[in-house]
Amino acid sequence: MTPPDDLGPASTPNDLDAFWVPFTPNAEFKKRPRLVARAEGMHYYTPEGRAILDGTAGLWCANAGHCRPSIVEAIQKAAAELDFAPSFQFSHPKAFELASRIAALAPGDLNHVFFGNSGSEADDTALKIALAYHRAKGEGSRTRLIGRERAYHGTGFGGISVGGMVMNRKWFSGAMLPGVDHLPATYSREHQAFTKGQPEWGAHLADDLERLVALHDASTIAAVIVEPMAGSTGVLPPPVGYLQRLREITRKHGILLIFDEVITGYGRLGAAFAAERFGVVPDMITFAKGVTSASVPLSGVIVSEDIYDTFQDSVTGVDHAIDLFHGYTYSAHPLACAAALATLDLYRDEGLFERTASIEAMWADAIMSLKGHPLVEDIRQMGLTAAFDLAPVEGAPAKRGFDAMKAAFHDHDLMIRASGDTICLSPPLIVSEDEVGEIVARTRKVFDQVS
Ligand SMILES: Cc1ncc(COP(=O)(O)O)c(C=O)c1O
Repeated sequence: MTPPDDLGPASTPNDLDAFWVPFTPNAEFKKRPRLVARAEGMHYYTPEGRAILDGTAGLWCANAGHCRPSIVEAIQKAAAELDFAPSFQFSHPKAFELASRIAALAPGDLNHVFFGNSGSEADDTALKIALAYHRAKGEGSRTRLIGRERAYHGTGFGGISVGGMVMNRKWFSGAMLPGVDHLPATYSREHQAFTKGQPEWGAHLADDLERLVALHDASTIAAVIVEPMAGSTGVLPPPVGYLQRLREITRKHGILLIFDEVITGYGRLGAAFAAERFGVVPDMITFAKGVTSASVPLSGVIVSEDIYDTFQDSVTGVDHAIDLFHGYTYSAHPLACAAALATLDLYRDEGLFERTASIEAMWADAIMSLKGHPLVEDIRQMGLTAAFDLAPVEGAPAKRGFDAMKAAFHDHDLMIRASGDTICLSPPLIVSEDEVGEIVARTRKVFDQVS
């Protein structure tokens, strides 16, 4: 038993041992950690006070920039006013206000919002809603879920099952959801190298869904989930016409289409949602990250009128019957709702989605200026995102990307993201033209250093 005088921070060693850092080589990290202790606007600051230019909006999420005063104040006020409200059988006014605001931003008749905390929860929620929706409609045989190669839908069992990243799957292969298929990834270097925005080649890859329908029959398929632009596996913009084709085929066969907009939502592609930018309305949109500019965890699923009504109709006339057996203790947490409302105000008042659209061409030109660097095998760009495929070190895949990320942080005061040997950029939407130039100049120096 721990003696009482051993309790408390004074006698607890503040070392690096206890925290198991996610998606990180822990031993290496703890030898020379990359720590940030403060943030403001476009910058992080290390505990020693070194300013790090944020080329990644944290983790594709601090879209409004860091520690924006109006968001901070809203969180502080909420914490003092209502620390928590139960989300099952009770709620609080800001949850409804926020759902209405989000629904108003969403396209088509995506009018109802179910809240979670993380992108992983939102994606698993959407998959569960798809299964339950068909069952509520008397089509319980529709259980099959279709994802895509090179997709990332978080780390829940649902998300890794429909996801398409081998390392996230193989360790857990004994417990994948059954009845899952994958569409092919939309990327082909041969046909798409160094494209700005959407590639022309690849719409036909959506037709693979017809093959799966022919194989399994539509009556067994519940939903297709895709990121409208795959982010985590290295910015893969959808080929022109691809999403439209997916929408036509899913609609024809009564299959729900889910857009995972955890990265693409809230301005990243110059519109509230990628669905708006690409002119395709899915049946559900999942979101997280940018909804609070990452200040407090919050996620959700926006569903169509038809989906919501189907659940309401399934319990009509029975007042005490629950329409969906799903939820989280912290669904619509008061602090998260306050943070999201302040964030949405800021996006609107500063016109950040429109601004992103207006600086995209400048960003794309700046990014493409690294074409020709001896290490760079391909560059992709869409909205305020970019990815550089670097030539791998022979026999050591992912080492070059890892080394580049480390060099950027330690030697060039820049935060970049490595996904294998692909370097991704996604700065806060407040990035100035000068800062774009600085991000690109430092990235070039990083590539020189790891060449
Ligand atoms: C497209 C997409 N879906 C889901 C997730 C998972 O979100 P979280 O890490 O909040 O669970 C991510 C995270 O990056 C993502 O990019």
